[in-house]
Amino acid sequence: MTGRLKDRVALVIGGARGIGGAIADRFTSAGAKIALADVEEEAGEARASALDGIFVRTDISRPEDAEGAVAATVTYYGRIDILVQNAGIYPWTLIENISPEEWDQVFAVNMRGTFLAARAALPHMKAQRYGRMVFTSSITGPHVTSPGHGHYSATKAGINGFIRAAALEFAGYGITVNGVEPGNILTEGMKAHRSETFIRHMAESIPLGRLGTPEDVANAFLFLASDEAAYITGTTIVVDGGQLLPEGNDFRINPE
Ligand SMILES: NC(=O)c1ccc[n+]([C@@H]2O[C@H](COP(=O)([O-])OP(=O)(O)OC[C@H]3O[C@@H](n4cnc5c(N)ncnc54)[C@H](O)[C@@H]3O)[C@@H](O)[C@H]2O)c1
Repeated sequence: MTGRLKDRVALVIGGARGIGGAIADRFTSAGAKIALADVEEEAGEARASALDGIFVRTDISRPEDAEGAVAATVTYYGRIDILVQNAGIYPWTLIENISPEEWDQVFAVNMRGTFLAARAALPHMKAQRYGRMVFTSSITGPHVTSPGHGHYSATKAGINGFIRAAALEFAGYGITVNGVEPGNILTEGMKAHRSETFIRHMAESIPLGRLGTPEDVANAFLFLASDEAAYITGTTIVVDGGQLLPEGNDFRINPE
């Protein structure tokens, strides 16, 4: 196999569909060997077998599952070079209606899951003196937000802080830690949890004129997971079609 990730072993958590599915596809086409971890067994198994990889049923909010996904990867392939923690949930609920249980669930998957994944992969990457960790953040939280995203925004801003802390702690072992901040990406999750009106209005607010595709985001993951990004750590790449740029709503110019 040739490619930018030739023979690298990558564990993609939350890789059954959506952005994570595209990351697994892109990594494989760049030469990586793939382990997929996800709560969705059927879709995960199907994608893993199409990519000639392995599937590990994993609820990343559970420490034993995080350890299990990394252990299965190392047992099967003998190492783990790349860790992607992409699993995330984004229920739409106004702050006044968020129950403490829902708050904890969003934190358990999005933030605790990111910490647990990093903690599980660290000893192996440390021993190899090599590792690439790439986490899915968002523009929502670190830069912008909208109503209904209180818990979600807090987790994604928190992930960026964790990326910086982990990058600093792991740098001495040859491990880089970075993140990708997608804008609005048309995935199964987005279609299920956001209305058509939300999606249409969102497209109108994006200078490049469309929502992103999972492949748009996967390309940034590929770069950060590759050796081309060897000197980059503790940072994030925004993939948003220019959505963060306008000072106000009236940003379109008429070329005619
Ligand atoms: N779609 C967007 O516009 C967008 C924008 C910014 C950030 N993100 C982030 O990108 C990531 C993927 O989003 P998506 O839109 O592809 O979502 P999605 O719902 O389409 O896919 C998410 C995947 O994660 C899995 N998952 C959920 N909970 C899990 C758990 N506890 N353990 C393991 N796997 C679990 C799901 O089964 C699914 O396969 C999330 O972290 C999300 O917050 C998405």
